[in-house]
Amino acid sequence: MATDFPNSKFTGIDTGAFLPKSSAPLPANCVFQASNAAERLPFENETFDYIFQRHMVASYDTDQWRKVTEEMFRVTKPGGFVEIVELDVGKIVGGGSVAKGAWRVAKAFAERNGMNLRIIHRLPYLMTEAGFTIAKAGHLSIPIGKQGGEIGRLFACDLRSVLQAGKALALRELTISSSFFDDLLNRLFDELDGRPGVFMNVHIAVYQKPSA
Ligand SMILES: C[S@@+](CC[C@H](N)C(=O)[O-])C[C@H]1O[C@@H](n2cnc3c(N)ncnc32)[C@H](O)[C@@H]1O
Repeated sequence: MATDFPNSKFTGIDTGAFLPKSSAPLPANCVFQASNAAERLPFENETFDYIFQRHMVASYDTDQWRKVTEEMFRVTKPGGFVEIVELDVGKIVGGGSVAKGAWRVAKAFAERNGMNLRIIHRLPYLMTEAGFTIAKAGHLSIPIGKQGGEIGRLFACDLRSVLQAGKALALRELTISSSFFDDLLNRLFDELDGRPGVFMNVHIAVYQKPSA
């Protein structure tokens, strides 16, 4: 984006682990800095014309989401926009009994950590409470599994990697065994591959800070 829009300045934040290395070649109009989005952001009031945030549903607990929306409001210029893209990870539409069971496990894990997997449905309220208006909102349905063609296959692969990455944490926090987890994952993706019309929704919303 920084290359496509050379007259704009881009600032990226992350708590740390995934920040580009200082030696990484970046366009001159693009900087990254370590910052926790769930705390006070290191930016003056009304700094940004446009804020973009994506796939943070598993990064904040419910209280942190409120703080994030308030900070976004503070650092957005009057008339500026915030775009939020999030998967509705709390629901596999068209999934069968294994998907429902797996999502009960995911929900239990999330609740234990103060997370709301379906926060996407609360976000419009949090954003309007913070002071934004809703400029645009919609969703895309992404197929999951072999019956969803190449996109379905790739998305299933991605989803499986994400769930696999959470295994150690899940075993630590829930009373399930390693073999139960592996078996659940195998049965889940067999089921998803075998069912047509299975999908997850990704919600895309643009909010505006009212002009002063
Ligand atoms: C699932 S990734 C999403 C990355 C990116 N937004 C995207 O769409 O590809 C979550 C990222 O958020 C970062 N992160 C987690 N909690 C954070 C926080 N409180 N403040 C800033 N970054 C955070 C993680 O280090 C990780 O790089």
